[in-house]
Amino acid sequence: MITRPDSESLADWVERTRQGIRDGRFPVRAFNDPAVAELEQERLFAKAWCFLAHESEVPEPGDYVTRYIGNNNIIVARDEHGDVHANLNMCRHRGNVMCKAEMGNASHFRCSYHGWTYKSSGELIGVPYMKEGYEGRLARKDWSLVSVRIESYEGLLFGCLDPEVEPLGDYLGDFRFYLDLYLKQGTEGVEVHGPPDHWIADTDWKICAENFAGDGYHTPVAHQWGFSLGYFPSSGSTHSQGWAVSVPGKGHGIGLGHSPNFPPFGGFPEELVEQMKQTLTPEQVEVFSRTRTAVGTVFPNLSFLMQPFSLVPGQAGVRFVTMRLYHPAGPGRMEMYSWCLVPKTASEEYKKEAYRAYTLAFGQAGTFEQDDFENWTKVTRSAESTMVRDLDFPYIMGMDSARDPEFPGPGHAVVPYVNDTNFRNLWSRWGDYLAGDQ
Ligand code: FES
Ligand code: FE
Repeated sequence: MITRPDSESLADWVERTRQGIRDGRFPVRAFNDPAVAELEQERLFAKAWCFLAHESEVPEPGDYVTRYIGNNNIIVARDEHGDVHANLNMCRHRGNVMCKAEMGNASHFRCSYHGWTYKSSGELIGVPYMKEGYEGRLARKDWSLVSVRIESYEGLLFGCLDPEVEPLGDYLGDFRFYLDLYLKQGTEGVEVHGPPDHWIADTDWKICAENFAGDGYHTPVAHQWGFSLGYFPSSGSTHSQGWAVSVPGKGHGIGLGHSPNFPPFGGFPEELVEQMKQTLTPEQVEVFSRTRTAVGTVFPNLSFLMQPFSLVPGQAGVRFVTMRLYHPAGPGRMEMYSWCLVPKTASEEYKKEAYRAYTLAFGQAGTFEQDDFENWTKVTRSAESTMVRDLDFPYIMGMDSARDPEFPGPGHAVVPYVNDTNFRNLWSRWGDYLAGDQ
């Protein structure tokens, strides 16, 4: 399908798009275009650090999950020594998918086609008819599963297909300050509360990544019922308050929404607040204590949200954290993975309440989730229509915003929370990758 003027090459379109982002515009077509989706596979998902799993999903030797980096299916498994490995989920003999389950525990992986067998580490250990068939010509050590580089930050396991990639810590940069708000909510960090909700949606991963990079603009409209029925402690008149913080050059961004009269650390049990004061720096405590909603995206496709949600309308909300991964599954299509994260040291009662709040708001059938996907799928359909070929969206809020000098955290922090600054930074990084300029 030709989606650009016939005379313009894809490379020229990328350069024109990058200039547009600098000027506060972004092309509609980017949200549902086969050529763009293909370029993202080659230039972005094959190069960037991509989230695979949380360490608490594979706590024991033999535990595994299967996930994706771009269009590559990856087995993440813990070996008998406790080390976690990431390998391409493809048998080296004739390419069969090795592991067909999404998660489980296995001492080894045995291919269902001809029976080649691999350890959790990916090492090839078994080949049927080795002596009779291969007559000494096959060296098992040369035919292990294809390994993927893996690194972790505070329990988050990321993988990268590019062996030359910068260390994960450099890739995350100053965004680690904000990730800690989700990941250090207790002296022993956080864990997943059960397996992720996982579903397929007819929308583009970028629409979700952008929304969670701090789209406070949509909340009073798309989720208006939450305000008016008393599930969510904010109002349309004050919802713009707070900060939009981006990490320039990295693509990561977070919205930190603030509500007047919302108590510091509102919605957290007292014992967790005391633990956070130990695990977080004074600057992080200052930022966190004032935050009602923290909604951020790690470039390219991993997001977090923390907010209070009232289990009974009008009553004090319960804080929950959701982590979500938008796996691109073709133009205009993605697979969503959505987890609830809870502090390991929290009481069982709080964990259950937080999971309930998460499920009601952002589980697969969650109320906020339904609101969002209703809009996102429609945006995606619009983006493939013929008439939008040369249309742009405006990204001009906060074009001249200076950094708030009073804000104690790193990055480019601007007010108000309702702002396009984070999105220009996100798409600028996306443009770098698509141009091969990362
Ligand atoms: Fe796996 Fe042949 S494809 S053993
Ligand atoms: Fe939303």
